[in-house]
Amino acid sequence: MTEILPATEENIARAASSLRAGRLVSFPTETVYGLGGNALDDHAVAAIYAAKNRPDFNPLIVHVPDLSAAATFVHINEAARLLADRFWPGPLTLILPRLAACKLSLLLSAGLDTVAIRVPNHPVARALLTACGLPLAGPSANPSGRISPTTAAHVMEGLGGKIDYVLDGGPCKVGVESSVLDLSGPQPVLLRPGAVLAEEITAILGQEVATEQQTVDHGARKSPGQLSSHYAPHLPVRLNAPHAEPGETLIAFGPAAPAGTRNLSASGDLLEAAANLFAFLRAADQPGYRGIAVMPIPETGLGIAINDRLRRAAAPR
Ligand code: TXA
Ligand code: MG
Repeated sequence: MTEILPATEENIARAASSLRAGRLVSFPTETVYGLGGNALDDHAVAAIYAAKNRPDFNPLIVHVPDLSAAATFVHINEAARLLADRFWPGPLTLILPRLAACKLSLLLSAGLDTVAIRVPNHPVARALLTACGLPLAGPSANPSGRISPTTAAHVMEGLGGKIDYVLDGGPCKVGVESSVLDLSGPQPVLLRPGAVLAEEITAILGQEVATEQQTVDHGARKSPGQLSSHYAPHLPVRLNAPHAEPGETLIAFGPAAPAGTRNLSASGDLLEAAANLFAFLRAADQPGYRGIAVMPIPETGLGIAINDRLRRAAAPR
């Protein structure tokens, strides 16, 4: 039995004791809901892979309360310090080398000598980290290959029965997963676009950021052009559609869209569109249609992350 708990102080304490007992709890972050487990405990991490039904051991993100907690697990290089000062807490995940003395589960980094780490900027996530006193492994709280959850109800749809609790902190503000930046090599590489933009990172570091949108799924670099079907609705998705064809349901964007359609943002606001994206993909994914048509989204700012997720949703499966 999985319970949805309003994120009161008392319920956060209940969730924290579940986590300390090695059990799993979903918690809200500013990006999407995470599937939390004790990142020091291989059994808890294994239970996360099992609950997500993740066949491959795709490495997981660790959530910590602050930079000094991160520094107990990974090597904080100069670039990491600059970016953490500017963007933590916030939607930026850094890939950094594991310290020799790092106590994080080895399964969590799936055999890599690096760790993906971030400090979330959501009061409930932060209160939970403080209450449990543990680093939390936290992949998005969806079954493998499906759309990330941005509400507690989404989490229940996918993981109900498999975890103890979902802490309900309302809908996620950002709506797409964090930017993932690999700082373990000579040049920073943006593995997954998100709300922290490549140009913002370049401005802080004074160094060009390479982008590798195709590589993120398995952490390891994949051959370019190979788009895996992630974030996948059941219905096929058609991108850059000026309008829906017969039998399709439309996800619109901008003021030119016909009235009465599901519109990511009628005013053309990319922040609003990102926050609505996953909920709208779920809502559109209904039997009775033959596909989902999505209007074009500009490839700027958060539109880069939105289009990345949409291309994955539309990738052949
Ligand atoms: O916004 C987010 O980041 C959410 C919330 C819950 O924090 N979490 C999330 O986690 O999206 P997850 O596990 O679904 O995505 C982690 C991504 C994966 O694409 C994974 O391949 C990559 O980060 N990753 C994790 N560890 C890595 C590593 N050591 N090297 C390269 N990529 C890594
Ligand atoms: Mg995910």
